Amino acid sequence: MDRGWKALEKRTESAAGTAGFRQFEKDPAEGWPPLVAGLLAHAAQNYLGFHVPGHKQGRGAWPAWRDLLGEEVFRLDLTELPGLDNLQAPEGIIRSAAAAAAAVFGSQETFFLVNGTTAGILAMLLATCGPRDQVLVPRVCHQAVIHGLILSGASPFYLPVHAHPTWGLPGVLKTEDLLPALSSPAPPARALVLIHPNYYGLAGALEAQIQSARAKGLVTLVDEAHGAHFCAGAPYPVPALRAGADLVAQGAHKVLGAFTQAAFLHHRGTIPDPGKLRQALRLLQSSSPSYLLLASLDVARCQFFREKKEWEEVASWGLELRRKISRIPGFFAPGEEVKEVPGVAAFDPARLIVNVKGLGITGFAAAAWLRRERRILVELADFQNIVFVLGPADFKFEGDLLEGLTALAAACSCGGKTQAAGCPEPPLSPLPRQFMTPRAAFFAPQRELPLAAAQGKIAAEVVAPYPPGVPILCPGEEINAEALAYLAAWSEAGGVWPGREKGTIKIVAGS
Ligand SMILES: Cc1ncc(COP(=O)(O)O)c(C=O)c1O
Repeated sequence: MDRGWKALEKRTESAAGTAGFRQFEKDPAEGWPPLVAGLLAHAAQNYLGFHVPGHKQGRGAWPAWRDLLGEEVFRLDLTELPGLDNLQAPEGIIRSAAAAAAAVFGSQETFFLVNGTTAGILAMLLATCGPRDQVLVPRVCHQAVIHGLILSGASPFYLPVHAHPTWGLPGVLKTEDLLPALSSPAPPARALVLIHPNYYGLAGALEAQIQSARAKGLVTLVDEAHGAHFCAGAPYPVPALRAGADLVAQGAHKVLGAFTQAAFLHHRGTIPDPGKLRQALRLLQSSSPSYLLLASLDVARCQFFREKKEWEEVASWGLELRRKISRIPGFFAPGEEVKEVPGVAAFDPARLIVNVKGLGITGFAAAAWLRRERRILVELADFQNIVFVLGPADFKFEGDLLEGLTALAAACSCGGKTQAAGCPEPPLSPLPRQFMTPRAAFFAPQRELPLAAAQGKIAAEVVAPYPPGVPILCPGEEINAEALAYLAAWSEAGGVWPGREKGTIKIVAGS
């Protein structure tokens, strides 16, 4: 039987056998990082595998699919096998890779996640808060936080977050909105959730807020889904672990080079029972994690460590790009100005916000034009803004980006103008009335109603336009006219959310 794979064998011999692994331990600039080295070493044994996955390292793969992806993808798509490791109790290559990540990101212990930052957020809440606990939650948070509350049963004490009145940018938690909440809820809250930064790269006074929460005995849980690159140093915002957060979930796939879904969960050794975190992850993660995802985390960590200089250059480039874009009539790409957005104390220079209100079109329309006419895709569009994620791979495309934006501006000034929709703010001030916890609403008898008929009812599900995935309605809250009007405007302007096409919402029956 031909179990050849000659090319791979060659590379394996030179880079990844035991010798390759030792070489990497001595000199991190050489060889493959531990998880990849382990996978390659395993593949080099040329075992005849009578085990899962069913594609049998490519032998059983659909040939066209194998040709498309390449043989090595199948060869390395391994699972928990002798000589590899176990994600739920790592002792070998996963443990080495996680220890290397802990050293780079500054944690006491790092866990690898194969279900996105979402899994990290759910685990942070499950491991630290129970049904009798209260958690301080900025109301502008990712839906995963609300889902974590459903799982843990904890009650949210929502904190207001305000948007900038003219740029339509959502702010972050203001310290002055946090401090009264730290003293007011009785019994005292168990944990504080912070989002650092938000989807737009905007960050708050993180260190001060963590210190205030710690002084009151709260555990601090930080959603750093968009900030895995912050430890490249200033001018990036301070990384959450360095700011003193107890637990941090980071989306390595969002800005670093890991495969989609791959993320980190870090702790600093300050939570009472890290064992609970392991238990939570066991509950939330697959018992057959993809080793390709895990290996991509190891590579992303290694690449980031080597590319810190490039990340510094991305920061200065991002700032310069803002100046160039703001010189194109109709655009405003805020830099330091974003500190006028409520709660903002720092921002990510690699998250480029371009406000297009001056063109007389919405961010949705601008994004659609760029996609159609220039084949440029943005990360996020809203009523007024488009957002670009920058990284070291993007320097050489500055010309394309500037040309695309210049052409968009020209198209708008010569009659291609769509009237900008009104730019409603998320209806979160005042906060919607909360009648029950997210968990109680989730488990209550439910029925589905057309959105238009749901006013005054109690929501039983999260409704979160995506991106940015910020809930406009949370389970347990009253569905008010403002929320419905916002969703209608979002939909009319071209925005989406999961379930929008159905035009319905699940409500608590009898509400
Ligand atoms: C602020 C924030 N937190 C958490 C998440 C969830 O991350 P993931 O998609 O890695 O599960 C996202 C996703 O967009 C996000 O924007």
